Amino acid sequence: MAPRLDFNGKTVFVTGGSAGLGLEISKAVAAQGAHVTIFARRQKLLDEARSIIKDVRRSKEQEINAVSVNLADAEEVDSVFRAQPRLPDMLFCCAGGTPGQVGFINDLTPVQLETCMQNNYLTAAFSAQMMLKIWTEDDKTAKGTTPLTRHIVFINSVAAFCTVPGMGAYSAPKSAVRGLADCLRMEALVYSSPTRKYSIHCAFPSTFISDAFFEEQKGKPLLTKEIEGTVGTPEELMRKHPSAKKEADLILAGVAKGDFAICDESVESPILFANMVGVSPRRGLGIYDTIMSLVMAFAWPLIGRPWWDGLCKKYSPTWHASRKP
Ligand SMILES: NC(=O)c1ccc[n+]([C@@H]2O[C@H](COP(=O)([O-])OP(=O)(O)OC[C@H]3O[C@@H](n4cnc5c(N)ncnc54)[C@H](OP(=O)(O)O)[C@@H]3O)[C@@H](O)[C@H]2O)c1
Repeated sequence: MAPRLDFNGKTVFVTGGSAGLGLEISKAVAAQGAHVTIFARRQKLLDEARSIIKDVRRSKEQEINAVSVNLADAEEVDSVFRAQPRLPDMLFCCAGGTPGQVGFINDLTPVQLETCMQNNYLTAAFSAQMMLKIWTEDDKTAKGTTPLTRHIVFINSVAAFCTVPGMGAYSAPKSAVRGLADCLRMEALVYSSPTRKYSIHCAFPSTFISDAFFEEQKGKPLLTKEIEGTVGTPEELMRKHPSAKKEADLILAGVAKGDFAICDESVESPILFANMVGVSPRRGLGIYDTIMSLVMAFAWPLIGRPWWDGLCKKYSPTWHASRKP
């Protein structure tokens, strides 16, 4: 039987829990008995999400809270995390996305680059940093000897492994989140003790269906869609790509297995990870990732790169024509 985490009576913080994947993760853990606090900026969405999560919780004793905060502001994150009545067992860093920052770097404004970095990197970095400070302060004074495991799960993207034209603003902060997660996985070994285990995970989803994804589609150049395989009507895309709920279930299963890197069921997520393992541990026994690292070492320069470069060259006349006065 696949391993499962026991969420009963646990407390879970979910950044970006008011929509999409963050909301699905919040619903899934609430349905398994967790107290859940979601964090995002827009109060109306937070209130709606809170009521959806309350409807699926296992018992009325479970507290479901929704807190409005700009997670790219370190002081705000510190004060709202400290103000919560329950110390969490798990933090999911889901906030992010790039609905307003898709496009070629040449066409974006500096503010768009900055906003994308704030919403994707700083939201994750500040949430993880403040949570670790609070947890390790608690460890200093904790009297209990009952062993506890504390998890941080970063929701990253395949964009951390490879960029494509049109996603330059987004792949930079997602690569940075991957670096942060790799570093914290090792630091977690330092913070752990016989009674406190710190466990870091980083999920690398490919495209999944959310309102934010369809919002991104509106500003995406055709070249970006061709490379990432997102050409099609909304109905076709919904048939081709998993729902946010399916992605949430896969991520929770990956955390339960104890994997650092959590890839989804798409073709690209595991092969791009294998191509970019770096200092991350391989998944499971490492057999698939090791074989695919070797395959990708040959396949990428021979097939992958010529294919993507060819699409860029083919698109070039369209770009030049679009700029004629
Ligand atoms: N959809 C995809 O195809 C896909 C693929 C790979 C990875 N991902 C990643 O998966 C995560 C969830 O994506 P999604 O499609 O489910 O997005 P979504 O529905 O737009 O949810 C994003 C959440 O983040 C919150 N948020 C964004 N910036 C914030 C900030 N500065 N402070 C506080 N909250 C903030 C949003 O609420 P407010 O705007 O109200 O603050 C919202 O709750 C993102 O990290 C995204 O990069 C998505």
